[in-house]
Amino acid sequence: MVGYAFMGAAHSQAWRTVNRVYDLPARVRMAAICGRDAGKVADAADRLGWETYTTDWRELIARDDIDLVDVCTPGDSHAEITLAALAAGKHVLCEKPLANSVTEARAMTAAAATAQAAGIRSMCGFNYRRVPAVTMMQQMVAAGRLGTIRHVRAVYLQDWIVDPQFPLVWRLQKDKAGSGALGDIGAHIIDLTQFVTGQRISGVSAVTETFVKERPLPAGSSGLAATVDGSAPATGQVTVDDAAVFLARLDGGGLATYEASRFATGRKNALRVEINGSLGTLVFDLERLNELEFYDATRPAAEQGFSRILVTEGDHPYMSAWWPPGHIIGYEHSFTHQMRDLVEAVATGADPAPSFADALQVQLVLDAVERSARLGSAWTEVEPALAQVAV
Ligand SMILES: NC(=O)c1ccc[n+]([C@@H]2O[C@H](COP(=O)([O-])OP(=O)(O)OC[C@H]3O[C@@H](n4cnc5c(N)ncnc54)[C@H](O)[C@@H]3O)[C@@H](O)[C@H]2O)c1
Repeated sequence: MVGYAFMGAAHSQAWRTVNRVYDLPARVRMAAICGRDAGKVADAADRLGWETYTTDWRELIARDDIDLVDVCTPGDSHAEITLAALAAGKHVLCEKPLANSVTEARAMTAAAATAQAAGIRSMCGFNYRRVPAVTMMQQMVAAGRLGTIRHVRAVYLQDWIVDPQFPLVWRLQKDKAGSGALGDIGAHIIDLTQFVTGQRISGVSAVTETFVKERPLPAGSSGLAATVDGSAPATGQVTVDDAAVFLARLDGGGLATYEASRFATGRKNALRVEINGSLGTLVFDLERLNELEFYDATRPAAEQGFSRILVTEGDHPYMSAWWPPGHIIGYEHSFTHQMRDLVEAVATGADPAPSFADALQVQLVLDAVERSARLGSAWTEVEPALAQVAV
């Protein structure tokens, strides 16, 4: 694994847990972790359960006893690490968004396709697909329970930079993060809705805004937390969006709206998706992640209404290995589910999802949103990641 902070900790917990919860055809050995600070990465290796550590990710890739590289660094190093790992014959799990640009994402997708021919697997870390209620939502849509999809309404809202004195962490710098709220949290709702509906976003009209354009430089940061060095009152430019709002068309004919913001005061990590179809509606809310709301318009008119499905039964997705019905799970379980599917795919020679091509499709939407916003919200088509073959 490369990176030992927020996602490093979340992924480590999942790697530690996966074989203890699920019966899998392979066992995970947590061989080595990499970070740039020797003292901190040594501490992280000990705390998170890794056998060894290094300060140079190239050493991980050079080792013969490492089969898979898990990339948990900011977006500016995803392409370099992933391309080197694939070229060395390592399976790769790369955090989202796949890259900082479409060009990088295309190169990574091409490298993954070449590696796949040699039995090497690649996956992008859109973990929310693996919340059982979200997986179930996808299964219900695929089974036709909503009929024809008319509307998708998706928001992902946070408020951790509302204070203008919050420092200029890497997530607020374009050269490190690629984009702001758009690529960080907007990418999740783009992937989630394309996954659940089975439809591609085919065009967008967008606005983006940077509300606070200059911030103090940070003394240190990890995940969404940071400290300011009061002795050095220097400031720097925010070079990414604070919020992105866009409307979209789905290639199956539906209309969709998306809102991603770090300025939604009071909203900590509020991801909510509602899908309206000709036969019903499904609603997912991350703050109540064990539940799915379902309106079934095929029921007799007198009995119609929203019902709450508690997604904790043994025959619900991923739940057979956890607790008795009604004993709820949380955020971190989505990562254990991600590792379960990845280990199973690697061990059985299957291709895990989301693939790099799926993640490139998200990257193409991010790019179209930025271009549309620059052009005064002009309608902007999103091309398919994979060339279509007419038959
Ligand atoms: N799936 C999710 O829900 C989710 C949530 C948060 C972040 N992410 C993604 O995970 C990635 C990391 O985000 P984070 O929140 O964990 O960031 P973070 O700031 O908490 O951690 C980044 C880590 O990367 C290390 N690092 C940076 N450059 C490095 C390099 N060149 N070599 C070795 N280590 C390096 C840092 O030392 C740190 O340990 C990003 O792509 C982010 O978008 C995904």
